[in-house]
Amino acid sequence: MYYSDELIEEIRAKNDIVDVISGYVRLQKKGSSHFGLCPFHNEKSPSFSVSRNKQMYYCFGCGAGGNVITFLMEYENYSFLEAVQALAERAGVELPKMEYSKEAKEKADLKATLLEINKAAAQYFYVQLKSPQGQTAHRYLTERGLSEETIKAFGLGYSNKTSDDLYQYLRKKGYTEEQIRQAGLISTDEKHGVYDKFWNRVMFPIMDANSRVIGFGGRVMGDAKPKYLNSPETPVFDKSRNLYGLHRARTSRKPYFLLCEGYMDVISMHQAGFTNAVASLGTSLTTGHASLIKRYVQEVYLVYDSDEAGTKAALRAVPILKEAGIAAKVIRMEPYKDPDEFIKHLGADEFEKRIGSARNGFMFGLEILEKNYHMDSPEEKTAFFQEAARRLMGFEDELERNNYIEAVAKTYHVSAESLQKLVTKTAVREGMAKPVSRPKTAGETKIKKEDARKTSQKVLLTWMIDEERCFRAIREFVGPEDFTEPLYRTVAELLYRQYEEGKLNPAEILNHFQEEEEHREAASLFHTRIRELTTGQEKERALKETIRLVNENIIYIRIKNLPPADMAGLQQLMNEKRNLSEIEKLHISFD
Ligand code: CTP
Ligand code: MN
Repeated sequence: MYYSDELIEEIRAKNDIVDVISGYVRLQKKGSSHFGLCPFHNEKSPSFSVSRNKQMYYCFGCGAGGNVITFLMEYENYSFLEAVQALAERAGVELPKMEYSKEAKEKADLKATLLEINKAAAQYFYVQLKSPQGQTAHRYLTERGLSEETIKAFGLGYSNKTSDDLYQYLRKKGYTEEQIRQAGLISTDEKHGVYDKFWNRVMFPIMDANSRVIGFGGRVMGDAKPKYLNSPETPVFDKSRNLYGLHRARTSRKPYFLLCEGYMDVISMHQAGFTNAVASLGTSLTTGHASLIKRYVQEVYLVYDSDEAGTKAALRAVPILKEAGIAAKVIRMEPYKDPDEFIKHLGADEFEKRIGSARNGFMFGLEILEKNYHMDSPEEKTAFFQEAARRLMGFEDELERNNYIEAVAKTYHVSAESLQKLVTKTAVREGMAKPVSRPKTAGETKIKKEDARKTSQKVLLTWMIDEERCFRAIREFVGPEDFTEPLYRTVAELLYRQYEEGKLNPAEILNHFQEEEEHREAASLFHTRIRELTTGQEKERALKETIRLVNENIIYIRIKNLPPADMAGLQQLMNEKRNLSEIEKLHISFD
């Protein structure tokens, strides 16, 4: 923790959330809340609400929410510290020079140093590109159609043919060999000692959402292999949580991203005016990417290569995006290989048309599937529809499933009713045909258990936050020490303390989470709602079940950690487990 809790809370309290957000969003008072159009997703009628009482915001449309610090983190893409500093300045609060703990200082220092080194290297590569030795590289880029402006905007560069000049340059700037190694810019071998990792390549600096250089991709100018060489993962470079081009795409203000495969694709699209293009970093799309994308847009158009690998990658990406709540569409680039070549040959207007005729991700999956069947053979056609029905079963939401059934029926000229029947039949058959116990690997079971534990703790916290009156009942059976997940434990401790002191202050609790991911996760606790349950009785039953689950998990962990010979301890825990039936006697009134 860099600043004291008191100071952070002072800064937060001095920045009224309604005033701050009003600087970004036009808000209107309605009842006890202020409403406006959500800045985090596209909408026509206001579902974004800000409460002066609670000093929290929440969007009913997309679920974004948190305190004033969260807002700046999300809107400006600040880190926690950057947000606090901006708010301190706004409120005229003087900040002391950073109070670092030794460990935090070292960690922060290392990251800051690596970012500095990367920035210096990017500048070095850029200068090389513009110097006489960079002529070939510069010509290469120009011949691929890039303008000077584009080269500058993406900070493209050149790593020259001298084997250790970047290393020497960085050493002279005062960085140690170890630091430069940690930045992933050098390698060592026994014969030649230290040498630069990138040699005679066109360089693509990779930037994070805040335009900080976190790594590099380097391309050979001919056909040598490997075509691209990339920085290894480092403390500042996490490939599964960054996207190439995001620093520019995030301000494009379009409601969707164009997601492609290559650096050159992104650059070509931006140059042609499609400034909402991003690419993953030489890896396939991960859930980390999906949640990163979700911060900015709710819809993604996949513009993958036309070859089989690109098609497969697109089909894999669709469910990953859907899982994160992002709708996916697919754009095809045939007869060209990728967006870069497409734009080069057909130009921006044609590309725009392809965007207009993008296909729904699910329907695209069926089109590809159809190629495996001879549709003029009745048997194969039936088999195709059986597979389609199996996939349709994947839509858990009935309305959505029916919409898709209709769309499929229309596209493939069958009646919606008969397809509906097939889906139902398949569901029944698959449900019954499911193996009773699929053999699981040990790892898999463990993950499931951990997930279940996490979920029940999260749900319980949500109850406590959502329904203040539950607190007394919950406290009888669960204490803050029963939350085994470190993040939930911290929230629980603060929440219990606030309740005991009789002043709930959710905005203050969020101050305690300064690591970006943790902050978002903690913020999410405060805007999850126990929505689905309507009657008081249902709620009571669900809450009791949650209390029981959390307790069972605790007992399970304690049994696991018991010394093998501690029979008395085991006896005690078994008793406690039996006593959980007391939870049933609890009376919690929701009416
Ligand atoms: N890639 C990589 N390593 C390779 C090949 C590819 O990391 N050896 C990654 C790069 O991020 C690249 C992306 O995969 O941008 C797509 O690869 P590919 O389609 O082969 O290259 P293009 O982007 O089309 O590159 P170019 O147009 O320069 O040939
Ligand atoms: Mn290409």
